[in-house]
Amino acid sequence: MQAKNQKIVVLGTGGTIAGESNSENEGLAYQAAQRSIHDLTQAVAGKSQALPEALNGFQFDTEQVSQIDSKDMDFSIWYQLAQRCDHWLSQPDVHSVVITHGTDTLEETAYFLSRVVQHKKPIVLTCAMRPANFKDADGPQNMRDALNAASQLKGQGVWLVAAGEIHHSQYVQKVHPTRLNAFDSGEWGPVAHMHDDQIHWRRGAFESCPQNQLKSGMNPGMDIHALPLPKEWPWVEIITNHVHSTAKHVQVLLDAGVDGLVVAGTGNGSISRVTKEALLKAQTMGIEVCLASRCNQGPVVQTPNHAFEIAKELNPAKARVALVLNIMSKKQSQNN
Ligand code: SIN
Repeated sequence: MQAKNQKIVVLGTGGTIAGESNSENEGLAYQAAQRSIHDLTQAVAGKSQALPEALNGFQFDTEQVSQIDSKDMDFSIWYQLAQRCDHWLSQPDVHSVVITHGTDTLEETAYFLSRVVQHKKPIVLTCAMRPANFKDADGPQNMRDALNAASQLKGQGVWLVAAGEIHHSQYVQKVHPTRLNAFDSGEWGPVAHMHDDQIHWRRGAFESCPQNQLKSGMNPGMDIHALPLPKEWPWVEIITNHVHSTAKHVQVLLDAGVDGLVVAGTGNGSISRVTKEALLKAQTMGIEVCLASRCNQGPVVQTPNHAFEIAKELNPAKARVALVLNIMSKKQSQNN
C-alpha cells in the first residue's frame, strides 16, 4: 500500500549515531554528535530502492533540534523537542516522528515525551552504539528499522527501536555501557522484534503497553501547552541508599532548596533508618519524596513499611522525570 502524501519527520539531537572517530576501526574513542540529521537520514532514506516496502510513498523531512552528546541533555532541549514533536504531529500529513538520540539518557527523554506529547501518532527513538564512520556502524540499520517501524506503528506511544528490537518507553533502560544490544526492558522484555522488515509483536505485548491501559495514579500526564518555561521546572535529585548511609546530603540538598527527592532504595525500595528520618523531615517541609529501587528489574511493590510514594516500575532516572512533572502539575493546580 502506497502512503499518499504522508511524511515521517526525523528530528536529530546528536549522540553516537551522529558520531565520528579518527578511524573506521575506532569504535569507543570518538566524538558524538558530528553528522547532521539530514545526512544521517539521507544515507538511509536516500537509497529508495533499498527501503522496506512499508516506506513506499513516504516523504522524509528532517530537523536538527540539538547536536549534543546525550550526557548533556537538559530541560531546555527537552522543552524544545517536545514542542517540535507537538508541532509536527499536529500536521495532518505527518504520520509519525523519529528521533535520533544518544543512548546514555535516551530512556529519560523517551519517558518524558511519553508524558507530555499527547497525539494519537507514534514517536520512535533510535540510536547507535558505534560512531557513524565505524566499519560496522549500527546506526544505519537502526535508522532503517526505526523509519520502517514508525511507518507501521499506529496510535499513541513512544518507542525505542535498536538492535532489531522494539521497546516501550515506560520500561526500557540502557543496561550495558558498550554492548551493541545495550537496551533491555527487564521482565517486560522488548515488545516486538523486527524481522524481514515486519514488526513481530510478542503475544499480548501491544495491548499491555501503558497507553492502552488506564493510567496509573502516580503519573498524570502534563499538557504540553501548560509546560512552564524550563527555568521554572522543579529541582529534583536522586539519592541512593547503600551501606552506611549517613543522609548528610539530604540536609545539604534541603538547605540548597531542592523541591523533590527520588530515592534509589535497596531491594523493594528499602532505606536506612537515618535516611528515612531525614526524608520524613524533608516531607514535613513540603519536599516531595518518591521511592524507586536500585535493582534494575521489577517494580517496587507497595507494603505498609513504605512511608513514601513508590515509583512502581519506573527506574530512579524515570521516577525523577515523573516527580518533576508531578510537582509541576501540583503547582499549577494550586495556582489555578
Ligand atoms: C550519547 O549518549 O550521546 C553518547 C553515547 C551513545 O550515544 O551511545
